[in-house]
Amino acid sequence: LPLQPFNSFGIAARALRLARIGSEAELQALIRHPDWSADQTFVLGGGSNIVLTGDVRQLVLKVEIPGRRLLRETERGWLVEAGAGERWHDFVAWTLQQGWPGLENLALIPGTVGASPVQNIGAYGVECQDRFDSLDAIDLETGEAFSLNAAQCGFGYRDSVFKHERAADGRGFGLKGRALITRVRFLLPKPWKPVLGYLDLERKMAELGLVDPGAQQIFDMVCAIRRAKLPDPALIGNAGSFFKNPSVTPEQCADIIARDPKVVHYPMPDGSIKLAAGWLIDACGWKGKTVGHAGVYDKQALVLVNRGDAEHPCTGGEVMTLARAIQTSVYERFGIRLEPEPVVL
Ligand code: EPU
Repeated sequence: LPLQPFNSFGIAARALRLARIGSEAELQALIRHPDWSADQTFVLGGGSNIVLTGDVRQLVLKVEIPGRRLLRETERGWLVEAGAGERWHDFVAWTLQQGWPGLENLALIPGTVGASPVQNIGAYGVECQDRFDSLDAIDLETGEAFSLNAAQCGFGYRDSVFKHERAADGRGFGLKGRALITRVRFLLPKPWKPVLGYLDLERKMAELGLVDPGAQQIFDMVCAIRRAKLPDPALIGNAGSFFKNPSVTPEQCADIIARDPKVVHYPMPDGSIKLAAGWLIDACGWKGKTVGHAGVYDKQALVLVNRGDAEHPCTGGEVMTLARAIQTSVYERFGIRLEPEPVVL
């Protein structure tokens, strides 16, 4: 089975077996099958945050659970639920059309609703965890359904309990490979407050002469900013940001500033300093470069792209070779180890 249509990088890998999951009951029926082995599965959402470095031997579970609805409206806000297989951006657009603002800063992020808590998607000052209420999932070993609240999801920067392995002694809360998210609920708080602090948004508002934008206007600005900066995966294969923005101590940051005064850095609430990985990669001269059939996007150095064509598609190996070359030069120049953001399979 070709996986090329199911990964936004457009890497030509295959799956030996793939099951489309349209409902909880369908998954539970699979789990009851005598040949089922939870260890031999891989959960696939929109495929927009993965790098396939070879054929996938596990059974691919393609999540296609549909549905979106308002569960209740209270003075606290709107509690909205969506099936894990819904496209994230369509869900965001739909909430706004219904008059329930709150997700506008997260417009145009590729992928599915079910993947949004896994990597705690975030953009323009809002993260999934800021609007998250709870989720339903199915234990891939037992078939049992369970729910998690925000605290139980262990959210961090591009991180959650779903990205961590359970410790070998069975302790700890890692759920990587152990659960399939079926539904996610978001609480869109009342009164709505715009989140406008991000530099790109401030610039866009100035450009449009907007002072007090509504949620739909923020949605439109975010879409415009992303379209100008980030490649459309339908045209140029990519998986969004390829590395996480690294955190350093104020001392490390001062060291770097002494040598490179222009380094883009943001102080974090916990006292650490976050550096713009895109800036570091750009400073090492990688922007627009191509190695094999993999390249560095010319408008955002943090995004690696597929520069192959139908005859010579980019391989996951080429992406990882380029990624390692970038990591090496950033390490040699700044002493910082960049960590990949997508799931490498
Ligand atoms: N920069 C450069 N050169 C570049 C790229 C960036 O100098 O080639 C500088 C920019 O000028 C800017 C700074 O680096 O001052 C930050 O760039 P940008 O605003 O584009 O954001 P980012 O930190 O690179 C993060 C997220 C994106 C998210 C944007 C907007 C991560 C890993 N990435 O990117 O998320 O859309 O902020 O909030 O945190 C993703 O996770 O896949 C993703 C696209």
